Amino acid sequence: MIRLDTSFFSLELKTSATSWQADATAALAAVKRGDCAGGEFTGWYDWPRRHGFALAEEVKQHVAGIGRFYDTVVVVGIGGSYLGCRAVVDALTHSHAASLNRGPNASKTPQVVYAGHNLSEAGLIELLDFLATREPIVNVISKSGTTTEPAVAFRVIRDHMEQRYGKAEAARRIIATTDAHKGALRRLAGDAGYKTFVVPDDVGGRFSVLTAVGLVPLALAGFDIDSLLNGADQLFRSLEGEGLATHPVIEYATLRRAAFAAGKRVEILAYGEPRLATVVEWWKQLFGESEGKAGQGMFPAGLSYTTDLHSLGQYVQDGCRNLIQTFLSFSETLPASLRSGDASERRLRVPHAAHNDDDLGYGVPSLELHLRELSASSLGELFAFFETACAVSALLLGVNPFDQPGVEAYKKNLFALLGKPGFEELGGALRRRL
Ligand code: PA5
Repeated sequence: MIRLDTSFFSLELKTSATSWQADATAALAAVKRGDCAGGEFTGWYDWPRRHGFALAEEVKQHVAGIGRFYDTVVVVGIGGSYLGCRAVVDALTHSHAASLNRGPNASKTPQVVYAGHNLSEAGLIELLDFLATREPIVNVISKSGTTTEPAVAFRVIRDHMEQRYGKAEAARRIIATTDAHKGALRRLAGDAGYKTFVVPDDVGGRFSVLTAVGLVPLALAGFDIDSLLNGADQLFRSLEGEGLATHPVIEYATLRRAAFAAGKRVEILAYGEPRLATVVEWWKQLFGESEGKAGQGMFPAGLSYTTDLHSLGQYVQDGCRNLIQTFLSFSETLPASLRSGDASERRLRVPHAAHNDDDLGYGVPSLELHLRELSASSLGELFAFFETACAVSALLLGVNPFDQPGVEAYKKNLFALLGKPGFEELGGALRRRL
C-alpha cells in the first residue's frame, strides 16, 4: 500500500493542512457520488471493479485471438491518449531492450513505438524507416477522434500500411480506440473495418490509462494488465468506509492545498530512477490540466535525481522559495522482469536524496510517496492514487478537475489555422491577430 512520509514537510503547512481535511473528505465523497464539479467525468473512479476487469478479459481475448504476428506496437495518440501506456512501458522495460532483442536469442516481446504526440516531420520519416524493417500492429487512440497531431500521423502510417500490405491486411493490423459514436476516427474505423475499442464518455483523456486507452496497447505489448488493474483496485478499496481524513490521498491533497495557500507555486515530483520519467510526464499532465485554470494550481514540474541536482539542484536549494517537492520512491526499483537468475548479484545501491540527509533539499517542504516494488501492480496503485488525489485537490481549489478549456481552445485554433471547414471565422480572427 502506498505510503506518504511527511517528516520533511514544514510543521506550519502540516498544521494548516488539517483545516482542509473536512473539505477534502467531502470532495472525495462527491467524486464517488459523481456530483462534484464535472461529475459527468468521474467514470474513472473505482473503474477496475465496475468495468476494468471485464474489459481486460475482452482485451486479452482479442490479443490472444489475433496471435503474435507482429514485433512492433505503434501507439498513435497524444496527451492522455498515450502517456499512461508509455509510462508503464518505460517503467517496466529494460532500457536497452531494443538492442538486446536483436539476433537469434531475441525475445519475442514486441517493441512499442509512438507517433502522433508532436508534429515532427523528421520523427515521422524516421518512424517509417523503422517500420519498414518490422512487422507492425497499429493502435490509433483518440477520444475525440479529431485531434490534429494523431490524425496527421495516422494518415501517414495508414498510407504506409496500405501500400505495404494492401487494404485488407492493413485493416487487420490496425486497432482504433475512440468514442463509441462520434468523431472522424470512429467513422474511418467503421468504413475500413478496423477492430475498435471504446473510450468511455465519462472518462477524460488524462484519467483514461486504465480504460481501453492504456489496456489495449499494453496487452498487445505483453504487459500484465490484470496486475495493473489489481493495484488500482487495491487503492480504490482502501478508500471505502469512514475515517479517511488521514488516508494518503486526503493527506497529499490537503498538504498541497495548504502549500498553495501559503504561496507555493511549483510542485516538483522528483524521482531517483530514470525509468520513472514518463510516469512523471503523465502526472504533469494530470495535475497541470486538472488544476491549472482560473489562476489556480501549482505548476507541476519533474526532476530526475541525481542527474538534475547537477543542473537544477542549485535552484531547488537556493532559488525562489515557492516550491514544494514530492519524492517518488520504491523499495524495489528493479522491475521484476530484470530480477531473474543472478540478478540479485547485479544489485547496485546508490544512496539517493529521498531522505534529504545531505541537506540538498534545504528550505523546500518535501514529501515522500513510497511504494513497494516497481511493478504493474504498484503503477496501477499509483495511477489511482494520483487520479483521486488530483480530483480532490482541484476541488479544494474550487476548479472543475475534469475540463480543459485551454487545451480545447488550442485544438480549435489549430483547426482554424489549418482551414478546417466550420472554423472560418475563428481562422480569420486568428490570422488578423497574427
Ligand atoms: O486529457 C485530455 O483531455 C487531453 O490531454 C487529451 O488526452 C489529448 O488532447 C488527446 O485528445 P484525444 O484523445 O481526443 O485525441
